[in-house]
Amino acid sequence: MDQQIWTIVVAAGSGSRFGLPKQFETLLGRRVVDHSLATAARHSHGVVVVVPAGETVPDDLEATVIVEGGATRSASVRNGLAAVPASATVVLVHDAARPAASDDVYRRVIAGVDAGAAVAVPVVEVADTIRHRNGGVVDRSELLAVQTPQGFTAQALRGAHASGAEATDDASLVEQQGGRVVHVAGERTNIKITEPADLVAVAQSMGRSGATQPVEMPTAHGKGAALKLRVGNGFDIHRFSDDPDRVLVLGGIRFDGARGLVGHSDADVVAHACAEALLGAVGRGDLGSHFPDTDERWRGADSMELLAEVVRLVASDGMVAVNLDCSVIAESPKLAPRRSEMEAALSAVVGAPVSVKGRRAEGIGGLGRSEGIAALVTALLTGIDG
Ligand code: CTP
Ligand code: MG
Repeated sequence: MDQQIWTIVVAAGSGSRFGLPKQFETLLGRRVVDHSLATAARHSHGVVVVVPAGETVPDDLEATVIVEGGATRSASVRNGLAAVPASATVVLVHDAARPAASDDVYRRVIAGVDAGAAVAVPVVEVADTIRHRNGGVVDRSELLAVQTPQGFTAQALRGAHASGAEATDDASLVEQQGGRVVHVAGERTNIKITEPADLVAVAQSMGRSGATQPVEMPTAHGKGAALKLRVGNGFDIHRFSDDPDRVLVLGGIRFDGARGLVGHSDADVVAHACAEALLGAVGRGDLGSHFPDTDERWRGADSMELLAEVVRLVASDGMVAVNLDCSVIAESPKLAPRRSEMEAALSAVVGAPVSVKGRRAEGIGGLGRSEGIAALVTALLTGIDG
């Protein structure tokens, strides 16, 4: 039988630990809830979003049905379930606050229910050692952390909620009523945003997986925007080398056969300018102050590793790149054929989209006389304010 799959995205919480309703904060250019709704929509015939009751909520949420939530998460799920049509055979429940849940997690959960489980939940091993409040360590090997989306036969979920019982997740309700819970693999990156720092962690992991979206200005919500934006610019220029053995490296890509550039490291002007832009955005000095060319450690260094180091430094300040845009000024070689390779390599290291554009200098000045290559980069970063 073909399944009719509906997903309830619960977004009716007040975010008391976060300080404001986190599901409406901006993450990589869209609201947290928008990421959750978009993934849910790819796996469902219909999506019900449950929003805070009696509050002004955004009127542009992309869902089949919008309903108001209740005082507890279970009450919100019940309100959502009431809006799921009787024709649904499988119902998923997902926390809006888990915007990084992947398509693969959805597929595994749905496959679990397809295979006959009343409930399928994504779980991950517990990494931390866990202690009882009153002393003593819990045996971690016996524990699993439970995530969402959780998948149910419509019958099991309706049965579990019929009594109006309370629990922090829905699988445990079904279990209380004798239903068997099947575990499928969750993902460490499927973080539930709980405190402000979690928003940065999620942004970083989603940025690295390439799941970024076009950038809009963050919207101030409630008591004011919790996110800040920082812009930085970077510039670097290197002279062509007379050494026929010097390899030209731009944006981490080797241009074999092209003239190399003079430099202490691999002279990757593009990677250097990206790093300068990131450092500039957080006011952390320049590349030379972090990787002095008097330091033998950096001789012949892979500049993409220096860039990765800068990305980590910026992250330690709680900031993550939204995007970088780079102009490379070079008479030769032609950059267009290798542009997408440079963009892919840089984006992977930066954890956000990096665009690269090649420009000739039209014969003007030293760059026009093919004496070297220069790069200019603008970087936009975001992070939590405070
Ligand atoms: N949720 C809901 N209705 C509630 C409480 C929670 O729809 N009455 C939703 C939240 O919006 C979130 C998910 O359930 O997407 C998980 O809850 P949680 O992370 O605890 O969010 P909040 O309850 O908003 O946060 P806090 O517990 O810090 O107040
Ligand atoms: Mg809560």
